[in-house]
Amino acid sequence: MVSSDSELHVMHASRFEQLVQTVVDYAIYMLDLEGHVVSWNAGAQRIKGYRADEVIGKHFSMFFTPQDCADGKPDWLLERALSTGGAQDEGWRMRKDGTLFWALVALDVIRAPDGEVVGLAKITRDITDRREAALQLDEMRAQLFQSQKLEALGQLTGGMAHDFNNLLTIIIGSARLALNSRDPQRTQRLLEHILDAGERGSQMTQQLLSFARHKALKFGRVKVPELIESTRVLLGQTLPASVELQVLLADNLWDVEVDAGQLQMVLLNLIFNARDAIDGEGLISMQAQNCTLTGRPEGLVGRFVCISISDTGRGIDSKVLPRIFEPFFTTKSFGKGTGLGLSQVYGFAKQSNGAVSVSSEPGKGTCMSVYLPVYTASIDPVPEHGGA
Ligand SMILES: Nc1ncnc2c1ncn2[C@@H]1O[C@H](COP(=O)(O)OP(=O)(O)O)[C@@H](O)[C@H]1O
Ligand SMILES: [Mg+2]
Repeated sequence: MVSSDSELHVMHASRFEQLVQTVVDYAIYMLDLEGHVVSWNAGAQRIKGYRADEVIGKHFSMFFTPQDCADGKPDWLLERALSTGGAQDEGWRMRKDGTLFWALVALDVIRAPDGEVVGLAKITRDITDRREAALQLDEMRAQLFQSQKLEALGQLTGGMAHDFNNLLTIIIGSARLALNSRDPQRTQRLLEHILDAGERGSQMTQQLLSFARHKALKFGRVKVPELIESTRVLLGQTLPASVELQVLLADNLWDVEVDAGQLQMVLLNLIFNARDAIDGEGLISMQAQNCTLTGRPEGLVGRFVCISISDTGRGIDSKVLPRIFEPFFTTKSFGKGTGLGLSQVYGFAKQSNGAVSVSSEPGKGTCMSVYLPVYTASIDPVPEHGGA
């Protein structure tokens, strides 16, 4: 015996019905054109807590928070789905017992074979756990940044104290000389020294305060030369006199799109590592240049600014090299290193859609390069190829 087309259709439909019914991780149900619940599956019951007989025929706004209802969100979603064929939403929804869950919602129109819209399919997932995990990760990143900042500030203030001491020596010495001077021209020069020293001090405190106040995760347009200069001011005399810091910037550097405070933290971390790698005398060189990448490093394509910090320190052993970006990995003694510097650098590069690469020769030195995406409005559009 051969079953007729319509019998087959009924069989498929009931099998499909069975499938939808048994799904428990997704609430899958249908709405009529006004938003009344027409069908209900096991997932809907599990996620929202209502049995089918408690919701069928009711309006789906019953799942929204009172605030969302007052704002007209259910109607707005329905209208949007009907006029465009579908709508998505993410937000709080309410269970039968009044508790809230964070829902990922898709609403799609269902059409009869003749094209007429007969209802809406609604799929809801409870992604509260995923949202909480993401929030926790953000929170941990912020904490990591905060603790790194305190560590860096600790390193900086020692150098700052020296700088301030020098400035005060200039100010006090010049003021004394000026008081005893009978030569108006000399007095004038001494007063200029005082003013100059005072201004340098105030510039330093400003840099320190803006670094200390910065909250993590604010993307924006950053001018690399300005940031490097303010980092240099911040460093003051933190580096020992036997270590020279050289800055080489290419002309016409593109602006980058990153979090300025985090980038400054990255530069400080790399410079502190370079300093720690140098025994006695050495050179740290900070360079920046524009580059157009075609897949290397790490699959990056397009325009980037590369900032590299190289040192003439002891280099990194090939056994250690694969581990340096791991959180808490350090080869330094207790109290000298936390092993968090390079994981901040790595996390920053990833978050900024950039990359970090390292090359090192034991006994000779290390070069760390950070690639940062350009702020696109700051460059000319790509010249057209071909033609003419
Ligand atoms: N410029 C460098 N030269 C040599 N070794 C380095 C350099 N930068 C990082 N390292 C190695 O990587 C390890 C991890 O660095 P980091 O994450 O900044 O932690 P920490 O500086 O607290 O040890 C360091 O302990 C060191 O062994
Ligand atoms: Mg470090």
